[in-house]
Amino acid sequence: MPIPFIDLQAQRRRIASEVERAVTAAVAGGQWIMGPQVRALEEQLAEYAGVKHCVACANGTDALMIVLRAWNIGPGDAVFVPAFTFAASAEVVALVGATPVFVDVLEDTYNIDAHSLETEIATVRREGKLTPRAVMPVDLFGQPADYRAIEPIVAHERLKLLVDTAQAFGATLDGRQTAAIGDAAATSFFPAKPLGCYGDGGATFTDDDGLAELLRSIRVHGQGSDKYENVRIGVNSRLDTIQAAILIEKLKIFPEELEARERIARRYTEAFRRSNRVRPPHVIAGAQSTWAQYTIQVPDRDKLHRDLKALGIPTAIYYSTPLSHQKGYAHFPSAGTPVSDRISKHVISLPMHPYLDEATQARIVEAVLESAGS
Ligand SMILES: Cc1ncc(COP(=O)(O)O)c(C=O)c1O
Repeated sequence: MPIPFIDLQAQRRRIASEVERAVTAAVAGGQWIMGPQVRALEEQLAEYAGVKHCVACANGTDALMIVLRAWNIGPGDAVFVPAFTFAASAEVVALVGATPVFVDVLEDTYNIDAHSLETEIATVRREGKLTPRAVMPVDLFGQPADYRAIEPIVAHERLKLLVDTAQAFGATLDGRQTAAIGDAAATSFFPAKPLGCYGDGGATFTDDDGLAELLRSIRVHGQGSDKYENVRIGVNSRLDTIQAAILIEKLKIFPEELEARERIARRYTEAFRRSNRVRPPHVIAGAQSTWAQYTIQVPDRDKLHRDLKALGIPTAIYYSTPLSHQKGYAHFPSAGTPVSDRISKHVISLPMHPYLDEATQARIVEAVLESAGS
């Protein structure tokens, strides 16, 4: 039996009847766009995250972009993003006409490096061509970025902090949910995310009443007090009622699934500590990851990929090229991203999901240690 990289069907089987009932009710209800399930989900997510407002939208990319638009970030503005992330993090900056400035990441957590951030901000200020406006850390692979180091820089520089927690909804740092950190946060409900729906979905979070009103307006064509009053340029980015209904059911088992992910991650890390050739991910003190991915570094990841594939064990590479070197992004500024460049050659992600049983995980661990050496 081939091992799935993320076993979404195991979860589906577990809650199939609840989800099917919820979907049927959403269809029968007839309010397929912005139905009552969307508002209910927003309230539940806001409560879960301990944030005043949650505004659902069509996907995580839009969630980030809508916040940038609400802040009027555009041409001539600089937004600082990590070089080692999924394209959407920088794409949204370019889409609003602003300039993404690439910041290097830390070797052991894969998250934005506060020292590199300071350097990049200073460089942009010194050159004087762009106006620094916002910092957008990414909680990569499910782990919160080091906000203890980032927040003072953002405050000192008088910038906005937009948390890209697309991979980490439910993660915490010092007990704070990542969705509650910064001026705003954005997440994704793409199916493979720890809290995913059965299609595309996303949400923004903020404690700022004025910003929440703008986010609600921009997501529906810049609408004003009624549907056909358009007070600004917006987009069409609503979350489907069916997806909200599915997410409400999934949210019920989400805390338990996060615990299972933590247990599985610990088992991997314990096993890999025995090897000098496998570098497990480092979680900073006080942080709780959602373990969207379990990503190790090995000297020869192509060999590991080949050896595991031969045994029916899938792996994935996030990300083989830092954004600062991708064709569509290489022209954007950066003082250099040597750590991102290095780790992108060694990272490899192993199967990770809450339904990974001990025997299967033991098979994976054995295969990794056998291939990579100890
Ligand atoms: C770090 C990061 N940011 C943003 C996104 C965009 O989310 P979506 O795919 O829902 O548009 C993703 C999703 O893959 C992501 O991993």
